[in-house]
Amino acid sequence: MMKQVEVLADKNALIQRSLELVVEKLQAAVAERGIFTIALSGGSTPRPLYEALAQQDLPWDKVHIFWGDERYVPLSHPDSNEGMARAAWLDRVPIPAANIHPMPTNEPDPAIAAQKHEQELQQFFHIPSGVFPAMDMVLLGMGDDGHTASLFPHTQALEVADRLITVGNKDGQPRITFTAPLINHARCVLFIVAGASKQPALTAVFAPEGDAAIYPSRLIQPQGELWWLLDQAAAQNLPS
Ligand code: 6PG
Repeated sequence: MMKQVEVLADKNALIQRSLELVVEKLQAAVAERGIFTIALSGGSTPRPLYEALAQQDLPWDKVHIFWGDERYVPLSHPDSNEGMARAAWLDRVPIPAANIHPMPTNEPDPAIAAQKHEQELQQFFHIPSGVFPAMDMVLLGMGDDGHTASLFPHTQALEVADRLITVGNKDGQPRITFTAPLINHARCVLFIVAGASKQPALTAVFAPEGDAAIYPSRLIQPQGELWWLLDQAAAQNLPS
């Protein structure tokens, strides 16, 4: 694993740097393999990145969009990660509809939705069950509690080692989420973390020892590249 930590002056610089990195990885993947697969994070931090990507002239027909997690709400709901990414980016670029692979949230049982999405990934990547595909990039945020995707502290989702997709749980609310092993099989994992509120969890996640059940972002140790792009506010107490 290659781990790279960059501290940027402020959130704008952080977003600009993350744009550069995403574009660089996209162009390299398309040049090498004719395709770029990326799993998006939700929450508020990545929105300006998505808005910036919408201004880029890129080979959108070769880009396939997934999500690392999704709230269990319809697309029209204000909390929908898919809805946010479509409004900020995907509805503004000529990306074929078939290249967008949202997590289903319309099954009465979220476990069925997770199973269906796992099958969709297996078909897309032409892999049997038990094999983990290598996404070109997984974009991640980190909550103030150290969660990432919808891998929340002390939840059963943290233990899932044999599936691609599972059901997350945030305060009793179901989520659909990539599992830690699926994230860890990515060629490149990019965390984008901004704001002073992230600082205590970041210190715990970066500490040499710690409990991943309490700080799930510690689970993310990809075999490929691991990038942490932080702003000064979030990184203020990290050992330099
Ligand atoms: C989600 C995200 C989640 C997010 C963190 C950070 O569905 O909410 O995928 O993991 O990345 O909660 O959120 P902010 O960027 O809003 O701080």
